[in-house]
Amino acid sequence: MEKQKYTITAALPYANGPLHLGHVAGVYLPADVFVRFLRHKGHDVAFISGSDEHGAAITLRAKKEAITPQEIVDKYHSILADSFKKFDISFDIFHRTTTDIHKETAQDFFKKLNDNDKFTQQRSEQYFDEEYQQFLADRYITGECPKCGYAEAYGDQCEKCGSALSPNELINPVSKLSGKSPVMKETSHWFLPMERHEQWLKEWIQEGTLDGVQQHDASQWRKQVLGQCMSWIDGGLKPRAMTRDLDWGIPVPVEGADGKVLYVWLDAPIGYISATKQWAQDNNKNWKDYWTGDRKLVHFIGKDNIVFHAIIFPILLKEHGEFILPDNVPASEFLNLEGDKFSTSRNWAVWLHEYLERYPDKVDELKYTLTAIAPESRDSEFTWNEFQSRVNNELADVLGNFVNRALVLNDKYYDGEVPARQELTDHDQEIIKQLAETPQLVEELLYKYKIREAQGVVMGLARLGNKYLAETEPWKLVKTDPERVKTILNIAIQITGSLSILLDPFIPGTAKKLRDFLNVETVDWSKAGHIDFIPSGVKANKPTILFQKIDDAFVENEQALLQATKTEEMTAEPEKEAVQFEEFMKMDLRVGQILEAKKVEKADKLLELKIDTGLDQRTIVSGIAQHYSPEDIVGTKVTVLMNLPPRKIRGVVSQGMILMAEDQEGVLSFMVPDKDLRAGSEIR
Ligand code: MF3
Ligand code: ZN
Repeated sequence: MEKQKYTITAALPYANGPLHLGHVAGVYLPADVFVRFLRHKGHDVAFISGSDEHGAAITLRAKKEAITPQEIVDKYHSILADSFKKFDISFDIFHRTTTDIHKETAQDFFKKLNDNDKFTQQRSEQYFDEEYQQFLADRYITGECPKCGYAEAYGDQCEKCGSALSPNELINPVSKLSGKSPVMKETSHWFLPMERHEQWLKEWIQEGTLDGVQQHDASQWRKQVLGQCMSWIDGGLKPRAMTRDLDWGIPVPVEGADGKVLYVWLDAPIGYISATKQWAQDNNKNWKDYWTGDRKLVHFIGKDNIVFHAIIFPILLKEHGEFILPDNVPASEFLNLEGDKFSTSRNWAVWLHEYLERYPDKVDELKYTLTAIAPESRDSEFTWNEFQSRVNNELADVLGNFVNRALVLNDKYYDGEVPARQELTDHDQEIIKQLAETPQLVEELLYKYKIREAQGVVMGLARLGNKYLAETEPWKLVKTDPERVKTILNIAIQITGSLSILLDPFIPGTAKKLRDFLNVETVDWSKAGHIDFIPSGVKANKPTILFQKIDDAFVENEQALLQATKTEEMTAEPEKEAVQFEEFMKMDLRVGQILEAKKVEKADKLLELKIDTGLDQRTIVSGIAQHYSPEDIVGTKVTVLMNLPPRKIRGVVSQGMILMAEDQEGVLSFMVPDKDLRAGSEIR
């Protein structure tokens, strides 16, 4: 394998909050696994990330916490950097976009493009909040997503379906500042005329060529990445404003741009370049080597970042003229949590820094589980039950058990000295063959960004070893055929040796322990799969237990914690944004009577209700099963929201919603009329 040069970036997280497991599983962990692998293969790698500290994501958070944007980014940058360190993500640098070196880099970049007429300056109408006297771009405005209908899409992207948006695409836009509908007002901005670039982008994304010259292997790009890009391009690229009317950000370095800053999606990706500069400076390297020439640039991101990395940033890089374009943009789908999507506002999340505080010695358990369920090609879900079964059934019972058996027996029979192999049976030969084939399989998958599958193959080797010992039963044979036992244990130790290398990208802490058991000093990737990696006669150590099992109490505790912290956040919920009277009157609220109630199969929170609404008898699914038993509530009169669109919940079509009150302890209560009103009575 020829040595390649790689610049690997992981999306700069907004410094407006901590990281949750969704971010980790989708971006930082796969990037880290890939980088560790590349380093072991001897490639020259720079692994770059940092905090994204500008933009509305920051200023809105500052408003919410009632502190300055600078205080916000200082606070969250340190939380982010600290949890990456504790989770052992091996960035070469985790930089920030509020640094001078970044400001200078971003301004120079902008100036160069501006001097070369790569932007157009245009007056245009943009949404404006009259009460706050502020233009509303990006996250300052929310509304319905035109692609998926999600009600709270931002002006720059929809967090539900991942589409990139602009404010004027939103249906019923609302200002995040005043809660009111914005007006249109004229302003002037620098635009990137993206429509100029449709032609080459199409070719570059679909074929991987520029003017017919091969740049990358387009067949290696993930389907969802190609799909999102092509649907954007086919929809027609439009000019996109590269500046904003905001007081937090990098000032536009051109005369007559007072009060304007660079668009955060121009500023942030340039952060990859400025971070590389800082790192190069600190390490006596030349940063340009990492952004030019024969080198692969790879961006690890979540799916909501696709067009910014696969269309907008490539346009900017190409227009600048000195830089390479990305070789691949391995974007992840979303990770869900216990049946619901991660949500910062509802505090429905497992926060990385909190996990690490509770379980500082369970880093590999989390890495392993998150890679095993990584949302590489479709959305996936994290549950504590799954965490438990991955740790217990795979890490402890397969990997841990195998390594422990091999090393304990080796210690017991040979005082730790690895025995020599004797005559080989067909079974042994088959095992040796599979061992030898494993590294190449793992490598092929990793080079294709199939990280989840690659980890599966490595675990397959542990499984093979475990099965081999279970089938050959050396602990029985030792009395009747001691020569045979030498062979079996030698092979088991070779497998352990290979695992100590192949596991290293995925669970580096555990791999290091394996190497310590075997007195192997370094990771020499080329030794993986070799049947004579650990020479006979070498002394191996007594093992310690690799993984503690996760008991049911642990799972219940975590599940309860999720529920409890979710409630806490709700009690602190401030008053909602103002709603127009006409909006409120659109809700059709009525008294309904519960006619029938039963549990929804395989859903412990849901009841299926039949409701007399005065108009009809309809089915409504309600999440109250843990608060009411079906037989107790038949006959009760409740408040029904009639005109929600029907929704299928666990296979049952629900037409409307029962309104419930919830107190601080999470007790739910129906809203019952205090007089005996007829079903169908209107509520206003
Ligand atoms: N902060 C952005 C987000 O979390 C990602 C920025 S990636 C970069 O969605 F390329 F702009 F740096
Ligand atoms: Zn959407």
